[in-house]
Amino acid sequence: MDSILVKGNGPLNGVIPIAGAKNACLTLMPATLLSEEPLTLTNAPRLSDIATMTQLLQSLGAEVASMQNGLVLAMSSHKVYNHTADYEIVRKFRASILVLGPLLARDGHAIVSLPGGCAIGARPVDLHLKAFEAMGAELELRDGYVHAKAPGGRLRGAIIEFPFVSVGATENALLAATLAKGTTVIKNAAREPEIVDLAVCLRRMGAQIDGEGTSTITIQGVDRLGGATHPVVTDRIELGTYMLLPAICGGEVECLGGKMSLVGAFAEKLDAAGVSVVETERGLKVTRKNGRVNAVDVVTEPFPGFPTDLQAQMMALLCTADGTSVLEEKIFENRFMHAPELVRMGAKIDVHGGHATVTGVEKLRGARVMATDLRASVSLILAGLAAEGETVVSRVYHLDRGYERVEEKLRGVGAQIERISA
Ligand code: UD1
Repeated sequence: MDSILVKGNGPLNGVIPIAGAKNACLTLMPATLLSEEPLTLTNAPRLSDIATMTQLLQSLGAEVASMQNGLVLAMSSHKVYNHTADYEIVRKFRASILVLGPLLARDGHAIVSLPGGCAIGARPVDLHLKAFEAMGAELELRDGYVHAKAPGGRLRGAIIEFPFVSVGATENALLAATLAKGTTVIKNAAREPEIVDLAVCLRRMGAQIDGEGTSTITIQGVDRLGGATHPVVTDRIELGTYMLLPAICGGEVECLGGKMSLVGAFAEKLDAAGVSVVETERGLKVTRKNGRVNAVDVVTEPFPGFPTDLQAQMMALLCTADGTSVLEEKIFENRFMHAPELVRMGAKIDVHGGHATVTGVEKLRGARVMATDLRASVSLILAGLAAEGETVVSRVYHLDRGYERVEEKLRGVGAQIERISA
């Protein structure tokens, strides 16, 4: 298993290009199953999760060609000969449940293994399944698989009201509703930019959708969808992660492709901490206003709130802030696994239930630490850049699921970082 060696750094300066969003791409790719015509995604990120989704779609009969060094994914699903998503692929990542909606909508039946993914909480898929049931599907859980059938071979439009906001369940319901008979209304829908991106792409394919980006989405089912070419929206989590570089190390970093509308709540917290974020013609320019950032309290919430996927990275920043910050995690129940690793580097963190109290220290110290999940792994790299001495982060395969060419991008702004191959 590879590890990453990071040396404590002075100010970082330069530009970092931000990739297309992993989480958008993972929901756009299964949309190919809804049409017999080609769907081409541009601005795709080069990540292992995308390779796994490619493998999953291919196992169902879709053709997926990766072109221009992975930036373009040309997909076509004129034949879908297999309707079973196998455990061996599904266990690698949770987004694989997103093939269930499209398979059911297209052919009226599917068998999908219950997913795996990051170990950040129980993460059930009950809301996804309830949405399909509302649309008339008959479901049975057997041997770790969901067996789903739509009577008469077609889902029907329905009113789906989620008890709380779920990104994945909103996406699955939206995908499925495009080909259902009649109108579907999704209430308490997620409003994430990745949902808006999915709706825009599906509309390009001929779907009739209204209200994406608000908490009520209305879909008028159509008989068939066509092909489309669609650019994947910018990755707001990669963006937010790299916006933290000058906040942590000083200097000035411009994140190319960044937009304030993608990271509003996060940028507000940075501003309160003493970090300036300015929108330029080509992205977001970030600088630290003074020597040391101020403590700020953070509560994670569904979009447009502060994203849970930036909580670990924000904690790395607050470890060296002036004062005490409280971070409250409201989306996942077990998402402070990075805290004990940061403590190994000299951070003062006290976790109690869904809250973490972080008292800033003058300086972190390099240490050997272990990545426990995707966002935790990058938070340890950020902390390593702020620390004195060397930090070795092991189990970095998590990192490769969500950050493309991370060492190259960080070295581009002056960071001292290298991968040690096992
Ligand atoms: C997506 C993102 C993930 C992000 C999360 C929240 C992808 C591939 N992943 O995950 O990076 O951290 O949104 O912004 O896009 N829940 C249930 N039952 C369900 C579904 C969800 O109880 O059927 C719970 C989850 O356990 C969690 C909460 O709802 O506590 C929100 O999860 P959800 O928004 O669904 O996250 P994902 O779509 O899995």
